Amino acid sequence: MNKIIQKAKTGHELSKSEIVELLKDDSINQELFKAADDVRHEFVGDEVHLRALIEFSNICRCHCKYCGLRAENTNVSRYRLNKEEILDFAQKAVGYGYKTIVMQSGEDPFFTANYLCEIVRDIKKLDVALTLSIGERPREEYEKLKNAGVDRFLIRIETTDENLYKEMHPQASLEKRKQCLYDLKELGYETGSGCLVGLPNQTLESLADDILFFKKLDADMIGIGPFIPHQDTPLKDVPHGSFELALKVMAIVRLLLPDINIPATTAMETLNPNGRIIALQSGANVVMPNVTEGDYRKKYEIYPGKICINDTPAKCRGCIGGKIASIGRTISTEKGFRVRPLSLNPSPAGRGKINIAKALRKKMTPQETKLWVYLRANRLGKTKFKRQYPIGKYIVDFVSIKNMLVLELDGGGHTIEQHKKYDKERDEYLKSRGFKVLRFWNNEIDKNIDGVIEKIMEYLR
Ligand code: SAM
Ligand code: SF4
Ligand code: FES
Repeated sequence: MNKIIQKAKTGHELSKSEIVELLKDDSINQELFKAADDVRHEFVGDEVHLRALIEFSNICRCHCKYCGLRAENTNVSRYRLNKEEILDFAQKAVGYGYKTIVMQSGEDPFFTANYLCEIVRDIKKLDVALTLSIGERPREEYEKLKNAGVDRFLIRIETTDENLYKEMHPQASLEKRKQCLYDLKELGYETGSGCLVGLPNQTLESLADDILFFKKLDADMIGIGPFIPHQDTPLKDVPHGSFELALKVMAIVRLLLPDINIPATTAMETLNPNGRIIALQSGANVVMPNVTEGDYRKKYEIYPGKICINDTPAKCRGCIGGKIASIGRTISTEKGFRVRPLSLNPSPAGRGKINIAKALRKKMTPQETKLWVYLRANRLGKTKFKRQYPIGKYIVDFVSIKNMLVLELDGGGHTIEQHKKYDKERDEYLKSRGFKVLRFWNNEIDKNIDGVIEKIMEYLR
């Protein structure tokens, strides 16, 4: 096997020059796709997660040079769905068995954070995971939306090449876009990003930088799309990006971030009639079928030739289901959150969750500090406890990995219904990973620390 592919497959780390080497050499493509498929199988299994996409507004205040929805394009017939229409599409999607709803739009200020929160709360009543893809917002708005129940957020960096970013978005800033991703990560979203492949003057070096940026960010989802020129944009005469190169970027992302969710993108299928299935066999494990109905599909024209514009949600569900079955894969019945295997946890250098854990560590509550005095330095039954430790999407208060024991301290806030629900989900998740969770109230720590220690010892014994 090619040495660089072998290294990526086993160690999940590559240097920039190694990535460029892979991107340059087309003789290794089949080997690369096979390695990514193997890693996908090993880390996220054979199930495909379907995410139901609702394109709820094509109104956009931005000027991205590649996009048909850019504000300058007067040839678009603009629309925005109202709350009832969005809910109707979401309800129907749940009827088709979808476990995740993705709400996507242009940057449309009509949808204020408060209005979006109302919609979010209603959709969350359907017991689905909810993803937003609505562009850049202030951190406070991301926070409000997270508190309303949004689980995931997608915001592609598009390119990490500063000059190219400026060229493509003359009125925007790469730093600001990056900050959005850092904010989302810190707020506890499952954070998705991605890039376009084939922008004018984009180099293989800059694509390698994009991949390393995703790795450093520790993104939870990455969507890679080939650029497709739109006739009403300044890039109308630029040739479309290469399907094969986009596939290679995606495959390398799978090798370096083995446990994340990676969609087989619609743009890939636009360039190749079997594009999504090829992507699913080259590292992808997610498909995002469109559940928007009627004319809206045509009007949400980010690029021409978009698939399924004349189809219905029912037809798409049947079509994609058939295709997935035809390659021996199954459709997941779960919400499909990222599950990080312990072998990758903690991971080497600079992973986002570890940094967040470090930041949290500085702010221990008085009760955590009190308990830590008993736990630290293997003091309790010679057991090694770690504090503020990331497990999957959660950061637990204290954990003994050897004993698979998690200790959680609860303040008064945990009696509120929403918190109870959150704690329950958290406990169920940890249980599914084989952990026992012991929960203590802060006032137990304050008033009866001996009793708390005895309970922990009892478990350890
Ligand atoms: N407005 C939000 C944003 O930009 O983050 C979300 C919607 S936007 C239409 C979703 C993605 O479409 C962008 O992140 C971009 O990568 C992709 N896109 C836009 N124009 C494209 C084109 N001409 N070819 C391929 N992908 C395109
Ligand atoms: Fe607007 Fe998103 Fe298109 Fe940019 S890519 S013009 S932000 S819809
Ligand atoms: Fe829409 Fe195939 S996914 S018709």
